[in-house]
Amino acid sequence: MDLVVRNASLPDGRRQIDIAIDQGRIAAVGERLAVNAAREIDAEGDLVTPPFVDAHFHMDATLSYGLPRVNRSGTLLEGISLWGELKPELTQDALIERAMQYCDWAVARGLLAIRSHVDICDDRLLAVEALLEVRRRVAPYLDLQLVAFPQDGILRSPTALANLKRAIGMGVDVVGGIPHFERTMAEGAASVRLLCEFAAERGLRVDMHCDESDDPMSRHIETLAFETQRLGLQGRVAGSHLTSMHSMDNYYVSKLLPLIAESGVAAIANPLINITLQGRHDSYPKRRGMTRVPELLAAGVDVAFGHDCVMDPWYGLGSGDMLEVAHMGLHVAQMTGQEAMHQCFLAVTETPARILGLEDYGIAPGCHADLVLLDAGSTVEAIRLRAARRMVIRRGQVVSESPRSRATLHLPGRPAATAFRLER
Ligand code: FE2
Repeated sequence: MDLVVRNASLPDGRRQIDIAIDQGRIAAVGERLAVNAAREIDAEGDLVTPPFVDAHFHMDATLSYGLPRVNRSGTLLEGISLWGELKPELTQDALIERAMQYCDWAVARGLLAIRSHVDICDDRLLAVEALLEVRRRVAPYLDLQLVAFPQDGILRSPTALANLKRAIGMGVDVVGGIPHFERTMAEGAASVRLLCEFAAERGLRVDMHCDESDDPMSRHIETLAFETQRLGLQGRVAGSHLTSMHSMDNYYVSKLLPLIAESGVAAIANPLINITLQGRHDSYPKRRGMTRVPELLAAGVDVAFGHDCVMDPWYGLGSGDMLEVAHMGLHVAQMTGQEAMHQCFLAVTETPARILGLEDYGIAPGCHADLVLLDAGSTVEAIRLRAARRMVIRRGQVVSESPRSRATLHLPGRPAATAFRLER
């Protein structure tokens, strides 16, 4: 064996587990494995998880914060006008440089798979070319999946459809959309039909920005579920944001949830961004705006949490930490029950891995040897502490290390240090 990780706790609750790794894959998982390996890592009882997965991101805008100026008001509207000022000034080299830097942060956070939307409404397709290059460069250590995203509307923008087809032809993986931004409800529904038919024809996955609005009548998720079922796209379609569901009439939602479940459409909420941008037209009470996460889960729908933005015109915070995303999602959705907190951890690991269609993901014999050793004993503790990533392993190789979180104390009669963990 090349490597064995000993005495790990696993996300499913198993403890004192050894994980043997050979040639980049997991060879065996069990208690006290009798194997010799070139290298041994002692997890000391800490949590070892498959890598974090971000199901929703915008890598073409990331780390552009302050270019050409900061978003003073912190609002969506100023963010959109800022993006408009920045777009003509984007160069491919600068975009690649920022994306590569973000991928460094991601790896250090144990985030080894990202689905990024890329705006295809610029006729030069400069961002598409740049992110295809980034995908190629990071492939040894990070899976980057790209979505052709018509930011200005596939029907509303005159060149968007041709650009989307070109982007897919160049190697972009997934078909995107933004039905609530089309000119009318009918145009929005038509855009969903058109894009789903295109995806079905080409055998592609679909991930649309869908109903990112506080308007309870924004019901494009209904059309997305219907088209998914009609075209046999079950398990390959995701609705991102779905924030209008927060504001919808409860009776209508009682019809909608089973339709979504039946269609096999997954939901991707973006808690950091939804809690920031939704409800902005409200006085008080102010809506939270995140989609109905516990209710979707209870209906049997896959729900993942995405980061959406990090240091871009819309959001000046973030650092690629999916535990921060899970932490916010847990709070916004009030998912404080024991099982619910664990589900928030799955929403940034296993569930998005399934939505992206990642192959051989997990901790079982035959899976890729991609692992994260956390400075925490359980999934809930990992979220509570936004735990340090003691080690990040990709294909059996250690690609990043961080020290445990520990503070030295200078207090009379108290211990010399604390690690923020309950000693039992
Ligand atoms: Fe987004």
